[in-house]
Amino acid sequence: MALCVTGSIAAFKAVEIARHFIQKGVRVLPVLTRSGARFVGHATFTGLCGEVARDDMWDASFPGELHIHLATEADVVVVAPATADAIARFASGRADDLMAALVLCARGPVVIAPAMHPRMYAHPATQRNVGVLRSDGRVTLVGPVVGEVANGEVGLGRMAEPSDIAAAALSLLRPQDLAGLRIVVTAGPTVEDLDPVRYLSNRSSGRMGFAIAQQAAARGAKVVLVAGPVELATPSGVERVNVRSAMEMRNALWQAMGPELKAADALVMAAAVADYRAAEPSDVKLKRVAGPQSIHFIANPDLLAELGAARSGRSPMLVGFALETATGDELARLAQAKLQSKKVDLVVANGASDAIGGDDTQAMLVSASGIETLAPMTKVALADRLLDRVAAYGKAGS
Ligand code: CTP
Repeated sequence: MALCVTGSIAAFKAVEIARHFIQKGVRVLPVLTRSGARFVGHATFTGLCGEVARDDMWDASFPGELHIHLATEADVVVVAPATADAIARFASGRADDLMAALVLCARGPVVIAPAMHPRMYAHPATQRNVGVLRSDGRVTLVGPVVGEVANGEVGLGRMAEPSDIAAAALSLLRPQDLAGLRIVVTAGPTVEDLDPVRYLSNRSSGRMGFAIAQQAAARGAKVVLVAGPVELATPSGVERVNVRSAMEMRNALWQAMGPELKAADALVMAAAVADYRAAEPSDVKLKRVAGPQSIHFIANPDLLAELGAARSGRSPMLVGFALETATGDELARLAQAKLQSKKVDLVVANGASDAIGGDDTQAMLVSASGIETLAPMTKVALADRLLDRVAAYGKAGS
């Protein structure tokens, strides 16, 4: 864990954050900005962490590139407190000191805990910068919270509690149990054009597939995410291939799986692939006609079933989804039928009513060895349960 401390009075609370990490047995690499060091000195962090507190990119005592070294060593980078200036520098991708360069080349999650006077936090420039960090999707912001700040005023700008910041960072320290595995994930809907302005699609938000890609990368897998048109930010460390139609997804998928499916250890097919496309999409905008209009649809290939049929042996592991309006035993029966007809190893079955769009879902994991009905949980938590199966499948085969 790298702990970066910038120049806010809340810097003294970074000592408590460091202690939380140390109590959990986590190695802490302290990094101070020049102004951070004016609030709490090097000796405090060096003494507490047993690691030299660094502040200088050009530190001659270190043989090599210090920011790269720290980024390689740290699974998670925490910036607490993060001043308005630090946030502005992160938002514009600056690398003008050791901390900024470290944040820019962090290989894992970055946790940022803003701390500043409420007027500085409310300023449109700071809000814009925070918005940029949010939409880039590469950092986890913890706080600020409403409370008393250094000069006694009360407002939104106080740093979150050290225990909350530490807990957020510790939850991102993941076991690297998927290291060495190459996982292809598909996500989102496909869009089948009818004419230059109209299309056929579905309500898939892409969140399930993106959660799987994010968690797989956090657990050390090399992840290719083949995504239909969704606005979601690419999870950290994930290679994303954007596609539009089912036929484009098919091409991208075979490219990612490689000849004879040897380029991947697992495929998780979370995309809601359109089953049909227009037989002859029009090059020009279709005009309204008197009376009923009909469009001739033809079937898209079943991308997962094609891969199931092409696979010889047990690798890559193939995981499909069954999103159905049915529930209970009927849902399980439909999932089992998909398991067999598509020749896959696991089907994640969920009810359409609770899976589409939201953050939570309830699912069953259906495989040849049985049915596991899971409690309602977030899509991120479900992603982890599913990836536990992927990790176990890899181990059983080795
Ligand atoms: N799938 C696919 N290619 C398609 C349709 C679906 O690869 N053309 C994949 C989905 O990504 C999902 C699984 O197959 O992992 C289940 O898709 P679903 O649409 O629920 O099943 P279908 O086979 O289309 O069956 P039906 O629509 O009759 O329920």
